Amino acid sequence: MLDLQKLSLAINNTFEVLPAPGLLLLSDDGNKKNLITIGWLQFGNLWGKWTVNVFIRQSRHSFKILNNSEYFSLNILEPQKYNNQITLCAQKSGQTYDKIKESGLTIIENEKIATIAEAQTTFECKILNKTILDKACLAPDLFNKFYSNEDFHQLITAEILSVKI
Ligand SMILES: Cc1cc2nc3c(=O)[nH]c(=O)nc-3n(C[C@H](O)[C@H](O)[C@H](O)COP(=O)(O)O)c2cc1C
Repeated sequence: MLDLQKLSLAINNTFEVLPAPGLLLLSDDGNKKNLITIGWLQFGNLWGKWTVNVFIRQSRHSFKILNNSEYFSLNILEPQKYNNQITLCAQKSGQTYDKIKESGLTIIENEKIATIAEAQTTFECKILNKTILDKACLAPDLFNKFYSNEDFHQLITAEILSVKI
């Protein structure tokens, strides 16, 4: 059962870090793990569950891994202390680079969902739905500003199964 008091604190911690880069999504398809710095997310309640929406562009290596995954974790790191790791995960692609090894971050292998030991706050998430944003449904100014190269985000809605603070 999700502890709502902890969830509230964890969401608060997330908003204290944003908009500075400080969120790492750890994906794991059973064969390979990858880290990506993300900045766009929404918390809410959907289908009777506490959920988070994240937005991953189709060009990302994380997109491929997440398409073969049931779970991921969201990890909030102190932006100043972990600036090098956060930058690395935003600049290198897991396609050609082992960001887990190079970042030196410690992965905790939990039963289902791997997390980052150095994170001050962690959300363990179960994927519920994936939807690629559609040009026909987007306001034209958003298409022009964010998607003129047609590299649309995939909106991933996930249930928050547990939080660690
Ligand atoms: C502050 C910041 C926020 C970012 N947010 C996102 C995001 O929400 N979604 C996304 O797809 N890429 C985002 N990126 C870009 C990815 O972190 C970057 O392209 C990364 O190298 C992709 O890694 P991958 O190919 O291993 O998945 C962000 C980058 C920065 C610097």
